[in-house]
Amino acid sequence: MLIVGNWKAYVESQLKAKALFATAKRLSAQHDTEIVLAVPTPYLGLLSPSNRSKVAFAAQNISAGTGGAATGEVTAALLKELGVTYTLVGHSERRALGETDEMVSDKVRHAHANQIIPIVCVGEKERDPDAHYLQLLRAQIHAVFEPLAQKERQQTILAYEPIWAIGKTASEAMSPRDLTEMTLYIRKVLGEYLPGRSALKVKLLYGGSVEPSNIRSLAEGTGVDGFLPGHASADSDIFSALVKALK
Ligand code: PGA
Repeated sequence: MLIVGNWKAYVESQLKAKALFATAKRLSAQHDTEIVLAVPTPYLGLLSPSNRSKVAFAAQNISAGTGGAATGEVTAALLKELGVTYTLVGHSERRALGETDEMVSDKVRHAHANQIIPIVCVGEKERDPDAHYLQLLRAQIHAVFEPLAQKERQQTILAYEPIWAIGKTASEAMSPRDLTEMTLYIRKVLGEYLPGRSALKVKLLYGGSVEPSNIRSLAEGTGVDGFLPGHASADSDIFSALVKALK
């Protein structure tokens, strides 16, 4: 299993960042779970150079372009130099600021071109009785996968994060039963871009109020390969409990 801890902007002190990193290193030495930390950009520079552990780093966002006259942008080349292996792309909190499917697709291609593995977030804002949300999800996946080469499709990680389940508590997260339904649907859509069994090999994560009390049931038999916890990853004790609950 893969756990990508999305610190968002919850962590705003170096002391806390270092403590969380120390916890993640300890956990990765003791457990089989693969741990990735999606940290605010300044902490990549702080933590990653001293990293001698199995913990990998993800950026929370990536620029779609290369360097030059682009104030405020953080390019793939910069992230690469900071030891980044993965990047989140299209998190709903970025989409809410105006990121479109087209921009997400550009970022994904830019990440691949620089050997950074994109973790693409998709998910519906709400559910409607006519299940139009399935079409929205399909369109989000299509925008990303269609332009990619086969090898890039295979390496892209998908994080299904229904927006209505983000930032709540375990009791308001998606149920294991509904998650199973969604992973089947997502794999079926992926089958349009990847032949045969290779659609089953794309790593699929779930995010949205993953907490120590529900992570296990969301992992068992639902077809996901891991999780993208937000608030539960920004506290050392809770993050430890998450990783321990998974095994
Ligand atoms: P949450 O966030 O675990 O706080 O719901 C998940 C996410 O937005 O990635």
